[in-house]
Amino acid sequence: MCELQQQQHRTVNPPRPHPSTHNRQGMAGCVNVTGDDVKKLDVLSNDLVVNMLRASYGSCCMVSEEDKELIITPKDKRGKYVVCFDPLDGSSNIDCLASIGTIFAIYKRVSEGEPTVEDALQPGDNMVCAGYALYGSATLVALSTGDGLNFFMLDPAIGEFILTERNVRIKPRGKIYSVNEGYAKYFHASVNDYIRHKKHPEDGSSPYGARYVGSMVSDVHRTITYGGIFMYPANEKNPEGKLRLLYECNPIAFLVEQAGGLATTGTQRVLAVRPQALHQRVPFVVGSPDDVNEYLSFVRKYQ
Ligand code: AHG
Ligand code: MN
Ligand code: MN
Repeated sequence: MCELQQQQHRTVNPPRPHPSTHNRQGMAGCVNVTGDDVKKLDVLSNDLVVNMLRASYGSCCMVSEEDKELIITPKDKRGKYVVCFDPLDGSSNIDCLASIGTIFAIYKRVSEGEPTVEDALQPGDNMVCAGYALYGSATLVALSTGDGLNFFMLDPAIGEFILTERNVRIKPRGKIYSVNEGYAKYFHASVNDYIRHKKHPEDGSSPYGARYVGSMVSDVHRTITYGGIFMYPANEKNPEGKLRLLYECNPIAFLVEQAGGLATTGTQRVLAVRPQALHQRVPFVVGSPDDVNEYLSFVRKYQ
């Protein structure tokens, strides 16, 4: 734990960070449980989310990207929900001011008595609510409680999120592919063949456009809005990919399925995966149904 994290953990309800943006950028000076460099804003946002959830009296335990262990809510503040979250997604984009976000998934607890890890290791199919906040050219919350996907936009004049798009549907097929192609050397042949097909379609159709922000929330929000496919497949260096099942892939898979899209590991629906560990990673391919099914046809071709 770095000094900034220690300061934040010392008090249960630490003072809110000063509203100025001065000195919020840069490294906190440590790595988190999955080996990522921790930034100051990672620590601050984690602290804000944990404290807000504790104060809500709705949670009994939480899983955060920034905490190795299950976070247990104090007994006198407990509710019946389990919340898994990535307090700040896309932290490599903090210093260059590209869009970043927050992702969460909510489950009902399954144990009685003290909350346990089993409460958090539920398959995504048990999710009761998921969402993300995107801090971009506007601030948006995408939210679903299992009855479709809705977008809410922050109106700063009144400090409220306004329902701006109800029952969002993703296009059956898009024109954009999104993947960190710099890892091509390490991708499986099926992934590279699929990408080649997007750039050089054999049927004479136009090639897809390429977009990759490097903040999954931004890349996924564009994919939901414009259609297409976002991929973080396994590669030789990261055999399970990079993205974490509980607080990155599952909530996004839930939201995209609610919009009529698909989310797969390449071998199964993301939401059907039975989690084994809090910080487990899975290969992740998500987006318009025809695009994801086309990707899966390339997977099958190489089996
Ligand atoms: P986080 O900032 O929470 O660690 O997540 C970063 C993730 C995700 O947002 C993005 O899609 C991916 O890392 C980018 O990774 P690469 O730089 O390997 O492409
Ligand atoms: Mn993330
Ligand atoms: Mn993060």
